[in-house]
Amino acid sequence: MDIEAIQTELARSHTRFGNPLIWLPSTGSTMDDVRTQAKAGAAEGLVIAADEQTKGRGRLGRSWVAPAGVNLSLSLLVRPNPAVIKRLGMVAPLAVADAVAAVTGIEVRCKWPNDILIGGRKLCGILIEGEFSGDRPVFAIVGIGLNVNLDVAAVPEIADFATSLRRETGRVVDRGAVLVATLRAFQVHYDSTDAARLRDIWRARLDTLGQHVDVTFAGRTESGLAEDVTADGSLLLRRPDGSLLTLPAGEVTLRRA
Ligand code: BTN
Repeated sequence: MDIEAIQTELARSHTRFGNPLIWLPSTGSTMDDVRTQAKAGAAEGLVIAADEQTKGRGRLGRSWVAPAGVNLSLSLLVRPNPAVIKRLGMVAPLAVADAVAAVTGIEVRCKWPNDILIGGRKLCGILIEGEFSGDRPVFAIVGIGLNVNLDVAAVPEIADFATSLRRETGRVVDRGAVLVATLRAFQVHYDSTDAARLRDIWRARLDTLGQHVDVTFAGRTESGLAEDVTADGSLLLRRPDGSLLTLPAGEVTLRRA
């Protein structure tokens, strides 16, 4: 990774995300690194990316595998207003989707709340952690873990369900190009004031809609038809009794007939 070239490229295109961009050869988790800087007053736009994470974490307390030299592991600092913070769960996967399409030509699909899939296999996971003062968001950290050149077959924990851009394209993909494209696209979707359009783009990427699913949220599981998403990305689940449940977060499992 030629970080200086990437920084120059981002500055040239006036990209706010990645200003500054800090690259670490190895770290525990970029989520913790950004949190430390956010608490010390860092401005929106800070991105910390690491070549290797030794304690990468995923959603629901899972660990995230990020060996050296192959993937993109990064966290972005945002200081959004209350309306925008709710949309981050759409903004981040859409940014990755645009970047993957721009660099490889592949159109990914998404699984609610924000997994990115190719052919049903997981390419990228997104973790969003917010810091609030009462109801007011102080900052949020958007973590993106994208399998770029990982040989997933060599990692037994994920070999059965994960993929990488290298696996899909059959060639080594330039991580710097994916990073720049992701940060640019993030800015476009983050700055969008057209919430209805953002939801339409998100709907078009979501595989989950129209499926019968189980959704586990806050320790309980609800079943029903994943009917739609709200303007801030919450899932609308039609229960068998006809009632409609709005779920801001959760884990989705497809129900097999
Ligand atoms: C998931 O699908 O469970 C989310 C995975 C998020 C992983 C990224 S990698 C960069 C950032 N640092 C972390 O420790 N996690 C996120």
